[in-house]
Amino acid sequence: MKEIKAFLFDLDGVIVDTAKYHYLAWKQIADQLGFEFTLHDNERLKGVSRMRSLDILLEVGKMHLEQTEKEKLATRKNELYLQHIYTLQKTEILPGVTAFLKETRGMGIKIALGSASKNAPLILERLGLTSFFDVIIDGNAVSKAKPDPEVFLQGAAALKVSPRECVVFEDAEAGIEAAIAGRMYCVGVGSESALHKANLVIEGFNKLSPHELLQKLREE
Ligand code: BG6
Ligand code: MG
Repeated sequence: MKEIKAFLFDLDGVIVDTAKYHYLAWKQIADQLGFEFTLHDNERLKGVSRMRSLDILLEVGKMHLEQTEKEKLATRKNELYLQHIYTLQKTEILPGVTAFLKETRGMGIKIALGSASKNAPLILERLGLTSFFDVIIDGNAVSKAKPDPEVFLQGAAALKVSPRECVVFEDAEAGIEAAIAGRMYCVGVGSESALHKANLVIEGFNKLSPHELLQKLREE
């Protein structure tokens, strides 16, 4: 294993549990369109872009809409989502994340964000976490969504490190596939069954230190 020089973090579901707010907003859109959208359906939206999420939502509702109508709905969904984001609290940062970021910095490891969300900078700001990140690559910067590796490759390039010197932290299958396609090490954050393609799966950041994590990756 090469020396690890950078950690690249996904945002939604890794740093903060925003999936519930994405769900509430999409559910309101589904209600408006007149079909049911369940938490189970919502799993399919994790890690995928806003427009792709809308396509999946419409697939669930068996609906076909014109592009202009779709754009209006995506904008409306984002307005609904932002109502939740404006009241987001620091207490909603997932357990152990802040300490993990601090310790990572202390070890001299660079930190990037690699998120599909166009709201990522706003969310980091609200959580008071922006200053931990050397580089932020979000949904505004990329042309190809995860599972394409673009978001992470841009992150590595901006940090001036090679993919093999990077560890990606992801909670979604699309993100894990993106990290693998980018030839980076990948840590799944969540349940082993959903994230088995990752090099290592952790339950959360309160379970181990960055130092212990690197040790475990070396043993793989
Ligand atoms: C990802 C989320 O991080 O960002 C997805 O997991 C979401 O659920 C995507 O659709 C895009 O987010 P946004 O904030 O640009 O609508
Ligand atoms: Mg995620």
